[in-house]
Amino acid sequence: MPAGHYGHRMRSPSRYGIDGWPYLLGLSGLTVGLATVAAGSIRTRPTLAVSAALAAGVTAVPAVWGGHYVLRGKHTLRDRLLDEVPWSGDEVVVDLGAGAGLLAVGAAHRTHGPVHAVDLFVPTDLSGNSADRLRDNAERENVAHRVRVHRCDIREVDLPDAGVDVVLSTLCLHNLAHVSERRAALDEAVRLVRPEGTLVISDLAHVEDEYAPHLRAAGFDVRVERATATFPPQHYIVARAPAAGSSERSRPGSRT
Ligand SMILES: C[S@@+](CC[C@H](N)C(=O)[O-])C[C@H]1O[C@@H](n2cnc3c(N)ncnc32)[C@H](O)[C@@H]1O
Repeated sequence: MPAGHYGHRMRSPSRYGIDGWPYLLGLSGLTVGLATVAAGSIRTRPTLAVSAALAAGVTAVPAVWGGHYVLRGKHTLRDRLLDEVPWSGDEVVVDLGAGAGLLAVGAAHRTHGPVHAVDLFVPTDLSGNSADRLRDNAERENVAHRVRVHRCDIREVDLPDAGVDVVLSTLCLHNLAHVSERRAALDEAVRLVRPEGTLVISDLAHVEDEYAPHLRAAGFDVRVERATATFPPQHYIVARAPAAGSSERSRPGSRT
């Protein structure tokens, strides 16, 4: 494994944040509230107690799975997505919607090249979401010298055309509400990647019905996979950019 592949002991479960933490917090609070109602009314109002207990069971399932994803699943996903890249050890990488650096810091262990971490650091998308958190995670894993933070929109990345070997992203594009915005983000990924470079993009929605056909139309060779240990369930694409000069390649919005 090139560039010092990291071991399990280097990981801390919480440093990469809780995705969509307001939802997880709401579900957990609801579960506790319903369980409290069930326990408190078991003697006086047994019908209410049973109903509340059943409802608590229903809300507990996504709350527990969501917690499992944050603590373990996202690290499993990180390894699986990074394993999809045919690393040689000198790649230039960009992580779109890097958050606390889950993929960016992971990628910095696989290459000696620069890893560009792009994010707007939206507070409600990830707990503790900030450039400082990302830099701190990179420092803790001794890769800060390779990770460069870009505070910008994933649809307007301040990097040149075809200068990146690997484009990574997880749980980011779905945050763009409209299909035209998500297509603009994919077009930016197409602009950034060099001929025959690799895209690995994971998300909880739109992967099969939007991202894959859009990239195929741009001439990419695309495979769709189902991720494991993720909640909500995620799919991801592994896409290879067409060769230079390929008639299939359409490079939208070229800036250079
Ligand atoms: C759920 S978090 C995932 C973070 C990281 N990829 C992970 O898996 O831990 C989604 C990230 O996308 C970022 N984001 C959302 N919309 C964005 C946009 N238009 N441009 C840049 N970043 C964006 C948020 O700030 C957040 O850090």
